[in-house]
Amino acid sequence: MSILVLGGAGYIGSHTVYELIEAGRDVVVADNLLTGFKEAVHPKARFYQLDIRDRGALDTLFQAEDIEGVIHFAASSQVGESMFNPLKYYDNNLHGTMVLLQSMVAHGVDKIVFSSTAATYGEPESVPILETDRTQPTSCYGETKLSMEHMMSWVSKAHGLRYVALRYFNACGAHASGKIGEAHNPETHLIPLILQVPNGQREKISIFGDDYPTPDGTCIRDYIHVTDLAQAHILALDYLMNGGENNVFNLGNGVGFSVNEVIEVARAVTGHPIPAEVTPRRAGDPAQLIASSEKAKTVLGWKPQYDDLNTIVSSAWNWHKAHPHGYEK
Ligand code: UFG
Repeated sequence: MSILVLGGAGYIGSHTVYELIEAGRDVVVADNLLTGFKEAVHPKARFYQLDIRDRGALDTLFQAEDIEGVIHFAASSQVGESMFNPLKYYDNNLHGTMVLLQSMVAHGVDKIVFSSTAATYGEPESVPILETDRTQPTSCYGETKLSMEHMMSWVSKAHGLRYVALRYFNACGAHASGKIGEAHNPETHLIPLILQVPNGQREKISIFGDDYPTPDGTCIRDYIHVTDLAQAHILALDYLMNGGENNVFNLGNGVGFSVNEVIEVARAVTGHPIPAEVTPRRAGDPAQLIASSEKAKTVLGWKPQYDDLNTIVSSAWNWHKAHPHGYEK
């Protein structure tokens, strides 16, 4: 029996495939390679280049492989883009998931773990955020991820599918082997953008607003290492295989760092002065996002290993220094 990882050539997907293979699982990866990279796919995984909106291609895969569970990362994930191109998000995230579930139901595959996001909460009422807190997305991206959760729930009632939704906070860092890491085009995330400065690709980093209601005025986020996220997917899949019921879990370290603090840590790690300049706020950024991940720890037995920002930024630097252009040669 095999695990199917959809979007397994992307950032979090590729790290999860590495952990699955390390744990001795047989892995099938499917990815349309629009934002993922073939080089990020573990050489021991069987690879299918397909788009999840292609029902025929999915049916062929489910016929050819003996799939016992699905981990679903195949989605568009840029908050900003989702605001000016919402239909792309409805198409790729919601329509894609609908076609996937149709094919899973038809082939009797009944377990799925999938990427949700802190963006399902929108502006939090209080921190740390609990899974039971209000979900009121402020972006189309967050809206489509929340709708994916709802779609799973209805399909579960009708067809007996079981699911776990993992709501990530700020994914960062890179694999300890140095073989895979974060590579987005265009890059919009804070840590890789900061590291472009010591890599000689950017003169300075912009701080998007310093007038937020936080101690130093810059936004606070909960940074969680991608390998810790990967481990949570394996635990969630095992939880479903052991009969666990539908569930939703936050994944974060439970500690917030401001943009200024992250830049300071990057200066210490790289030994570079990393000039910074305050620019206007970015639309839609909540002041603070910090997870309570107590539920994932209690129910799944999840224990994040990289709970120190220095280690996280060092692992990212290790990757970016060696791969300044990501997977491109
Ligand atoms: N930031 C800067 N300068 C930059 C880039 C980012 O100051 O050049 C700030 C942002 O304003 C934000 C923080 O750094 O306060 C982190 O920004 P990221 O873009 O790295 O991450 P986000 O918190 O915006 O996004 C993350 C995930 C999304 C998810 C979102 C939930 O990457 O997938 O959290 O709000 F939807």
